[in-house]
Amino acid sequence: MKKSDIQELIQKIESFNAKSHEDLEQFRLKYLSRKGRIPELLAKIGQAAKEDRAWMGQQLNKLKQLANHKFETLQEELTESQASSFNAREDITLPPAARDIGSYHPLTQTLQEMKSVFFRMGYTIADGPELEDDFHNFTALNFPPEHPARDMQDTFFIRKDEENPANDQVLRTHTSPVQIRLMKQEKPPIRAIMPGRVYRNESITAKSYCLFHQVEGLYVDKGVNFAELKQTLISFAEQVFGKGIKYRMRPSFFPFTEPSLEMDIWWETETREGQWMEILGAGMVHPNVLRAVGLDPEVYSGFAFGMGVERITMQRYGIDDIRLFYDNDVRFLEQF
Ligand code: PHE
Repeated sequence: MKKSDIQELIQKIESFNAKSHEDLEQFRLKYLSRKGRIPELLAKIGQAAKEDRAWMGQQLNKLKQLANHKFETLQEELTESQASSFNAREDITLPPAARDIGSYHPLTQTLQEMKSVFFRMGYTIADGPELEDDFHNFTALNFPPEHPARDMQDTFFIRKDEENPANDQVLRTHTSPVQIRLMKQEKPPIRAIMPGRVYRNESITAKSYCLFHQVEGLYVDKGVNFAELKQTLISFAEQVFGKGIKYRMRPSFFPFTEPSLEMDIWWETETREGQWMEILGAGMVHPNVLRAVGLDPEVYSGFAFGMGVERITMQRYGIDDIRLFYDNDVRFLEQF
């Protein structure tokens, strides 16, 4: 080993440039590892002439320090440059890129909200067919035979039997027929909501469409009273619209409830002046209805309500036309 050999090594080590961690590993293997150049030379000291050993040891130790230092410096530089190139490419403070995965239809969102309100009040859920017979849609609900709601004006008849109206089949005009099915199937206490589609052959306006959704509610037991009905509706409105909701209840008429009421909420949008909008009908289940399903009105009482999901959604989101729900226009839908 000559002094110039060591000099050459010093130069090589000093000028070594690592572009990657692989390069750095090559450096370590070549000079510092057990089989690398420096340990190899250190091992040779023992074989050298006695008078040379001192300078060799000195020089080689310096070389080793130099190589170790170089190794550490390169390692630091590599880690730093990786971090800075990462920062240059990505701004980790940016929100994640939006993905077009769609969203629930506003009616579905409202329905989910309504269900969760009633689940919290202890209601279960039930459903029935959209194609109904005359008995469930009208007769059992105490509609007199000549009642105008049976008229072609409001009802989509699927089958019309002039001789025997009991054979008529209709697209249900409300979810109240599910009350009848439920009361025939289960014994009180009954506390359930019945969401679903209903159909009406009436003129289409910003507030009325030929099909829409209702959530029917029914609570039948011993001693159910009108105050509970009102409190249930108020509590519902405050949970769905917020405590400050402006509402009113008006006396009303339905063949299947007595007394009956309708509830309006104040409806105001950017494009429309404020006005009252009816969102539900309700009342105490009529004794004739209880009798029609075999319950004794002297023992049992109950209340029922039917809510319009479209109108409730219009109020929640400030939507000014019911037809928007059925256009399937993404520019409308993607706002929810
Ligand atoms: N079925 C009634 C309607 O569609 C609403 C209602 C349901 C009223 C239950 C009273 C009780 O208008």
